[in-house]
Amino acid sequence: MNSVSFGSDNHSGIHPQVLEAIQKANYGYCPAYGDDPLTIKVLEQIKQLFGGNCDAWFVITGTGANILSLQSVIHSYNAIICPKSAHINTDECGAVQKFTQSRLQPIETTDGKLTPELIAPLLLGNRDQHHSQAKVISISQSTEYGTLYSLQELKALADFAHQNNMFLHIDGARLANAASALNCSLKEMTKDISADVVSFGGTKNGLLCGEAIISFNPEITSDMRFYRKQASQLLSKMRFVSAQFEAYLQDDLYLQNAFCANKMAKLLAKRLQEIKEVTVTQEVEVNSLFVILPEHIIETLQQKYHFYTWNEATNEVRLMCSFNTKEEHIDEFINDLKTLL
Ligand SMILES: Cc1ncc(COP(=O)(O)O)c(C=O)c1O
Repeated sequence: MNSVSFGSDNHSGIHPQVLEAIQKANYGYCPAYGDDPLTIKVLEQIKQLFGGNCDAWFVITGTGANILSLQSVIHSYNAIICPKSAHINTDECGAVQKFTQSRLQPIETTDGKLTPELIAPLLLGNRDQHHSQAKVISISQSTEYGTLYSLQELKALADFAHQNNMFLHIDGARLANAASALNCSLKEMTKDISADVVSFGGTKNGLLCGEAIISFNPEITSDMRFYRKQASQLLSKMRFVSAQFEAYLQDDLYLQNAFCANKMAKLLAKRLQEIKEVTVTQEVEVNSLFVILPEHIIETLQQKYHFYTWNEATNEVRLMCSFNTKEEHIDEFINDLKTLL
């Protein structure tokens, strides 16, 4: 095991307060499958956090959250529009296609972000019986390139979706990082911009496992709990997911963790930008960095620090910070990198 990892934010462990909450929930007997008092209470807290008048469900994985958010709002003849870099397109082994039996329509982007202008040409086939009918715009906030949609950009996409009889889905595996970076509330980033279904990630930000799905359009997601069971995302010992979320919400731990991860990524970017042989390719808005390194140092550096090569052709790598990345980890990484140059 590498001592320090910049591979992903889920390479880090469980936040101590979350672990403590799991331990605290480990007493006696409780109804299963989410019928316990803690789950009911914490789901209510989440609904309030997102502005009320919404529905919420816990699931175990981010892939599960994406499958269910999309499956519950579309039919098999629909299409889902997403950026080419979307996790649902690149890293979920076709799970969304398998469960929804529908098509993804990925769009090439330079920064992982969609705009109404990029989407509009894909809608020309809507209403033609020979074509899959685009029904959802699926975006990630923050994106897989570590970029962010502003609140105005989110609102423009939601409005465009609704004007065209579509829904807006937000993969929020890193929604907390986005809220921290934009200095806005979860409600402002979701309900207030008229998103339809969003996920609120925990696993990448200090939880053992757990994501919440929030629907602002309860009539279209009324079958969610049945789909959740079919997709094996209904944990029987649900109280332990709820306990984690209780700790996550307490004193805004989700924001504190995201703030640390984002801050460390900015610091790492600053230190890398001081090295002339290194190029930071994307603006660092949250907790990931995309960096071109000299080819000859990549493999050696990877022997000590875990990180992924993003583009072999250009020697671009991805570095990611998490809630427990420390300044001394960055110092050590920069020193080692400089020694190899
Ligand atoms: C943006 C995004 N969405 C969803 C997921 C899927 O999460 P999980 O691995 O828990 O299924 C990931 C995981 O890397 C992700 O980065």
